[in-house]
Amino acid sequence: MAVIFDQPVSTAHINSVKWEFMHIQDTRAKPDTLPFWIADMDFACPAPVLEAIKSRCNTLPIGYSMPDAAYYEAVCGWLQNRFSWEVKAQDIFTSSGVVRALIDLIYALTAPGEGVIIQQPVYYPFAAIIRHCKRTIINNPLPQHAGNYSMDFADLEDKASNPETTMMILCSPHNPVGRVWTTNELEQVVQICRKHGVQLISDEIHFDLLRNDQTHYPVASLCPDDDTIITCTSPSKTFNMAGMQISNILIHNKKLQKKWRAQTGETFPSPLALAAVKAAYTQCDDWLTGLLRYLDGNFAFLENFLQEHLTKAHCVLPQGTYLGWIDFSAYGHSDKELTTILLEKANVLLESGTIFGKEGKGFQRINVACPKATLKKGLEQIATALS
Ligand SMILES: Cc1ncc(COP(=O)(O)O)c(C=O)c1O
Repeated sequence: MAVIFDQPVSTAHINSVKWEFMHIQDTRAKPDTLPFWIADMDFACPAPVLEAIKSRCNTLPIGYSMPDAAYYEAVCGWLQNRFSWEVKAQDIFTSSGVVRALIDLIYALTAPGEGVIIQQPVYYPFAAIIRHCKRTIINNPLPQHAGNYSMDFADLEDKASNPETTMMILCSPHNPVGRVWTTNELEQVVQICRKHGVQLISDEIHFDLLRNDQTHYPVASLCPDDDTIITCTSPSKTFNMAGMQISNILIHNKKLQKKWRAQTGETFPSPLALAAVKAAYTQCDDWLTGLLRYLDGNFAFLENFLQEHLTKAHCVLPQGTYLGWIDFSAYGHSDKELTTILLEKANVLLESGTIFGKEGKGFQRINVACPKATLKKGLEQIATALS
């Protein structure tokens, strides 16, 4: 299985944001810059997903489409098999992406000016969309000790208790710090949100991408008596199909469903995406097992490489995601200088930690979902540049 993940995939003339449009992230990127930035993998999609798309293309009309019973069965089956979570088909709403859904949820469930809690350093579109929707960012920063992150519940309670704070967007597993939250941590978040009437939205897009010894608990599955928690999911990260632009938003409460529908209206996902999701969620377990072991191998490689060749850098093994969060602060460069060195001297594009919030100072996020040879080359270029 590892062999398929070692194969280089074609990266030219495929409209790839990661490979061909690096300049949208940093205009200094060159055509031969090695990209370790945006969360896309350099692996081919699983064969059943590609076959399902091709087979759907053999049917000539590609018209407006809606999920059928088989679609809902596939999604429900995945949630049941992976997380022992029974979700009803009528509680699943498709959207064209998790970020799109978060925007819709903010508009539908909060009023202008109200506060939305996020836990920085965090996936930076959270802050961007809160600003875009003219709501207020309320940061509950994640404390860290030697790269090990936790939650500050006293601060969370303080911020949630403000009547102007009405929503929290939880990132679970967390991008970029890689935490898979424990049941205890999740239960405390729920308890605080419930006590202060804060609507909890859990972005669980990375929920399948776990290290070998980790278990992910969808926060809503821990609270069957509370139907208000909304979960954003998608097969896009797991099966490398973000371009299909489909996500599944799980809304269990009837009043919240009504507000969602009032915001989004009827949506018609691409029939190619519907076919791809059905195949991904019913025929690709073995592929995913292979992927996860390959990622474990890449993280072990990263860890060894840092110990041997980038001795001042520090990276705690992430419990989930395929994103490493490396602390380069001991090299003594400012974030701007470090990004310049990585781009102009090492010729690699990572993501500067401060994009994720000021708490990311000194860190860089590296995407290791690529053939080991690519990772090795990039790390060697970084080691030479920083030596
Ligand atoms: C936490 C998180 N949420 C959402 C997204 C993007 O989701 P989508 O492409 O479905 O909008 C990403 C992409 O990296 C992510 O890491």
